[in-house]
Amino acid sequence: MSVHIDAKPGEVAETILLPGDPLRAQWIAETYLEDTICYNQVRGMLGFTGTYKGKRISVQGTGMGIPSCMIYTHELITEYGVKNLIRVGSAGAYQADLKLHDIVLALSASTTSGINQERFKGYTYAPTAHFELVTRAIEQAKKMAIDIKGGNVLSADTFYEDRFESYEQWAKFGVLCVEMETAGLYTLAAKHGVKALSILTISDSLVTGERTTAAEREKGFGTMAQLALEMV
Ligand code: ADE
Repeated sequence: MSVHIDAKPGEVAETILLPGDPLRAQWIAETYLEDTICYNQVRGMLGFTGTYKGKRISVQGTGMGIPSCMIYTHELITEYGVKNLIRVGSAGAYQADLKLHDIVLALSASTTSGINQERFKGYTYAPTAHFELVTRAIEQAKKMAIDIKGGNVLSADTFYEDRFESYEQWAKFGVLCVEMETAGLYTLAAKHGVKALSILTISDSLVTGERTTAAEREKGFGTMAQLALEMV
C-alpha cells in the first residue's frame, strides 16, 4: 500500500481513468467494467480495477484541486507503475461558442497554481497533454461521431472568485474553459515520462451563467467515459 492508496502490488492497471469524484469512479466501474475489484477505500477515495472489452483498466477518484490530484497521481505512477492517465472531469466554459455538454480535450493547461513557480525558478512551464493520447482521442471521437474541441484550459486553484469577471483575461487569450486539476496531472506525467490526457465535459458556463442538472451531468459524463474507455 502507498500512503493514500490501499491497493496490493499488481492490483492497479497500467491504464487508468481519473474522475475527481470518487462516486463517479464507482459509477464508471459499475456501468462499464467487468470482473471488477475495489482496491481502495482510504478517505473514501474509491479506486477500482476491471476489464473493458477484455482490457484491464482502473478508475480512481482524485478529489478536487491540484494538490489532491497530484497526491493520487504521484502514488499511482511511482508506486503502482501506472503509464496512461486519463482524467475525465467537468469544466466551466470561458468561451461563448462552448455549450453545455460539449467535450474538450485539454491540449495544455494554464494555471493559477504555484506548483511550477519554484520548480522552474519563476519561469513559466507549459503543462501539455501527451500527443499520442490526443491523437487517439481525436480518432476515437471521429469513429463514435462525438464532436470535440481542443485547446488551452485553465487549472484554477480556487472555485469561488472574488471578481466574477476575472475569467475574461484568460478568455481573451483563447483559454477554453476552467477546471482544477489538469496542470498538476500533466506536470507529473511529464516528470515521470508517462502519458496523460484530460477529457472535460462542459458543466457550466461563466459566459451565460447556465449550469447542467445532476441528471444531465451523469449523461454527459457517460459519453466522455465511453470515449476514454474506447480510446485505450
Ligand atoms: N469545474 C466545473 N465547473 C467549474 C468551474 N466553473 N470552475 C472550476 N472548476 C470547474
